[in-house]
Amino acid sequence: MRKNIIITGFMGTGKSVVAKELARKLKMEFIDMDRIIEERQGTSIADIFARYGENYFREQENKLVKKLSQKENMVIATGGGTLLSSDNARMLGQAGEIVCLYADSQTIYNRVRRKNDRPLLKGENILNKINLLLEERKKIYDNIKWKINTSNFTTQEVVDKIINLLKLER
Ligand code: S3P
Repeated sequence: MRKNIIITGFMGTGKSVVAKELARKLKMEFIDMDRIIEERQGTSIADIFARYGENYFREQENKLVKKLSQKENMVIATGGGTLLSSDNARMLGQAGEIVCLYADSQTIYNRVRRKNDRPLLKGENILNKINLLLEERKKIYDNIKWKINTSNFTTQEVVDKIINLLKLER
């Protein structure tokens, strides 16, 4: 059994696709936190935010982190805001290696603008919202030891960078 690998970072940095491919390559279990919360709640993240509010969503994230931290051998894609909670950051830090993906705001904008499923990035001036949130969260993401730029790289390139960075054996 291996320790978990936790893939975090801002929305649109590629967490889910990268974590899925990394899990496949390393023969580990892939976990997408947002998808699990949606399954448990029986509805979409956007709907959870709209009906019950962000705090309720954060509580669900925290419950899930508690549960996942007990297990091993997983590559976990967090939500973009999961590590904002120091409790989550502490539990995930103990449960495995955390890697933060990042990208410049224009790249993030290009990746997220066609989708309408992110409650924190809806409405007008999306690029502006991205910049504000990035600024607000900068300290949290910057604090994570392993960081990988995904702006001009393919999924395979990012996955290989993580494997090299963490010196993982395939
Ligand atoms: C959020 C990011 C989303 C999702 C929710 C909140 C955030 O996940 O968890 O909309 O606070 O950054 P993705 O980063 O996978 O879009």
